[in-house]
Amino acid sequence: MSLLEKIQKDRLPKHVAIIMDGNGRWAKQKGNSRVYGHKNGVRAVREAVEAAGSAGVEFLTLYAFSTENWNRPKKEIEALMLLLVNSIHKEINELHNKGVRLKMIGNTAQLPEKVCEELMSAIEFTANNKGLTLTLALSYSGRWDLKNAAIKMARDINSGVLLEENIQESTFSKYLSTAYMPDPELMIRTSGEFRISNFLLYELAYSELYFLDKFWPDFRNQDFYQAIIDYQQRERRFGKISEQIQ
Ligand code: IPE
Ligand code: IPE
Ligand code: MG
Repeated sequence: MSLLEKIQKDRLPKHVAIIMDGNGRWAKQKGNSRVYGHKNGVRAVREAVEAAGSAGVEFLTLYAFSTENWNRPKKEIEALMLLLVNSIHKEINELHNKGVRLKMIGNTAQLPEKVCEELMSAIEFTANNKGLTLTLALSYSGRWDLKNAAIKMARDINSGVLLEENIQESTFSKYLSTAYMPDPELMIRTSGEFRISNFLLYELAYSELYFLDKFWPDFRNQDFYQAIIDYQQRERRFGKISEQIQ
């Protein structure tokens, strides 16, 4: 039985989020520049998108560039931005043909104009697609999103649109940039690091975390399937005891 066949269709995560980490170390191991690692990460993105589609996952969110990544050497940032524009340009037709709906979360104001334009046109182009919702987290961080949510909420309170006594947990989620997606049931991180690095801080509250000891450019569809199978073997208790779940 293949790994894909081992996945139970009735217990699929709706939303899988991935921290795509380890491009630089992958390249270094091969005696190459960090940028070479980023270039080779594109194939892994393709594999993840295809695997999510084949497995029947509805939302895939990929952490591609964090707020903190702006502190990297200028040369690396420029190369990453160029790679981003080129990759979207190259892949968008195929994504569209597969029914993928592209979205992004993050601070667009910080992105170079060219990146922003390419991204916005790709998002518009695929806006009515009904297949996988693929979200790129770009110039994104969880704390950035929480700060913005607080500002928007304060505005609505000041203008009387929102009443303090009506604020609930679900109200808060509506002010986040991730409002259109369910919380991820499963979060995958490559490269052997065990941390969140400011990704989806609010949304990961009850996500199952899956860490694998592989650098991102080596990530393949089988790794995606394996992560789902692992997820399906876990008991999600949400604070209750085991007997209450079965
Ligand atoms: C992930 O790989 C890609 C981005 C953060 C843009 P890294 O560039 O972080 O690679 P490592 O973790 O340094 O190996
Ligand atoms: C997290 O990776 C961000 C992305 C994958 C885009 P980093 O490489 O930036 O995270 P740290 O610095 O190791 O925590
Ligand atoms: Mg890293």
